[in-house]
Amino acid sequence: MPLKILYAASEVAPFAKTGGLADVGGALPKALDALGRGHDVRVIMPRYRSIDPERTDYLLDFPVPLGGDRETAVLRWTSLPGGVPVLFVDNYRFFDRDGIYGASGGSYADNGLRFGFFSRAVVEYIRRSGWFPDVIHINDWQSGLVPVFLRTLEYIEPKLARVSTVATIHNLAYQGVFDPAVLSHLSLPSGLFESQFLEFYGAVSYLKAGLVFADKLTTVSPQYAREIQTEEYGCNMEGVLRERASDLVGILNGIDTDVWNPATDPHCWGIRYDEDHLRGKPEIKRRLLRDFGMPYRPETPLIGVVSRLAGQKGLDIIEEAIPALMSRNVQMIFLGTGEPRFEGMLRYWSSRLPGRLNSYIGFSEVVAHRIEAGADMFLMPSYYEPCGLNQMISLRYGTVPIVRKTGGLADSVADVSQGSRGTGFVFEHYDANAIVWAVDRALSLYADPVRWTKLVVRGMKKDFSWRHSAEQYEDVYEWAAAERAGGRRGRFSMGA
Ligand code: ADP
Ligand code: GLC
Repeated sequence: MPLKILYAASEVAPFAKTGGLADVGGALPKALDALGRGHDVRVIMPRYRSIDPERTDYLLDFPVPLGGDRETAVLRWTSLPGGVPVLFVDNYRFFDRDGIYGASGGSYADNGLRFGFFSRAVVEYIRRSGWFPDVIHINDWQSGLVPVFLRTLEYIEPKLARVSTVATIHNLAYQGVFDPAVLSHLSLPSGLFESQFLEFYGAVSYLKAGLVFADKLTTVSPQYAREIQTEEYGCNMEGVLRERASDLVGILNGIDTDVWNPATDPHCWGIRYDEDHLRGKPEIKRRLLRDFGMPYRPETPLIGVVSRLAGQKGLDIIEEAIPALMSRNVQMIFLGTGEPRFEGMLRYWSSRLPGRLNSYIGFSEVVAHRIEAGADMFLMPSYYEPCGLNQMISLRYGTVPIVRKTGGLADSVADVSQGSRGTGFVFEHYDANAIVWAVDRALSLYADPVRWTKLVVRGMKKDFSWRHSAEQYEDVYEWAAAERAGGRRGRFSMGA
């Protein structure tokens, strides 16, 4: 059955990106459209300053109530490559700023209001345009209030009661926690400040709002779906998630194979390769090393790291492992930006051993592509990883992943010990020794070029395209929409 689907997110590539959330926003709606089932898919996001309004078209504007006040939302739009429309919520007060969530590492003090405004604008857009979707797919805390607005406004707009919601958790650790006063600033009832609703340790959590109010919940890998129901990985939300376990599904992300394709990659000095013609790969490695001022030696494997520099990503155990790694025959290149302590650590090591270990501190799409293509191995020792895209991108680029067995890493990389299923090196313990042990195993296989090439090619042949995941989302949308349309009382709804 063709569905009307509105995909709401705070980041959508190529318009705004700090991490994998944006990759998903840029790829999943396209993949849903490409299923060819006649779905009407639209994307909605804020228009940040970095998105040129001249490249968008005006659609409509309307007032959004904010406490006793109101702010105008201007809706503009353009299309994703492939044709899916993207709507931008434009408002100078909230979004005409340098950063997405904050400037120079911090968060904006009014993020609660900014993304509350965004969520309310999503619901107002539906009312004003008369386009009532079957499902709104919200993502992380930034759009967590959408189902709350739907369920509180359906009393004055009954058609909203038919709109179902699916909430995806991309990262449970980011919980959108704000002072309870934000409820009155957003014209929401104070009765929501209860532990069965939005209250979370004395504050309001927008993530919890989504987890409690959305009809169905998904997260970005089956393994993470299990982990977040435990105390260790549940970030204090495990109770809420366990209660909703029968509505929670893990769906592994795909990667955008148009953007991440070594056979067509536009960023690697015009050099391309695929699993049958691997000759371009060492040439990219040579140029990458040259750009970083490092010597090229074919027998020395190059380990790449592309990462947000956040605790989640295992940078503390990388730091501990670096002395041991540097006593081996390897080179390392890092690309990342984030916490100052990790940026400082990488600067320190890059200045000490520039020919062996180097880094680019910053955000660069081009350098990310070059590392994925030029490195021999990719290190991702995350403490937790909801899905992770870089290990799948690495597989596609023949860059053998070395990962910790957690979340989506566990679901997408199989250890070489699994014979013909193996695609990389997997370790369990979160410590530096485990990294060194896994790298040592990789080094000994690298020394055998025939076996190494077999491993590389096996990884390149894996299919991580979005189609399969898009079909699973389609099932969840149908499930959510059917429960509402079937006249069954949806969550917190009067029933339509
Ligand atoms: P997360 O969303 O937790 O950061 P993912 O692996 O899901 O992790 O996605 C990260 C995405 O962000 C990938 O597309 C990766 O290439 C990109 N990325 C991360 N850091 C940088 C950077 N410094 N420069 C360019 N791209 C980056
Ligand atoms: C989050 C997670 C990452 C995931 C991405 C996209 O940023 O940290 O593991 O791949 O979202 O879902």
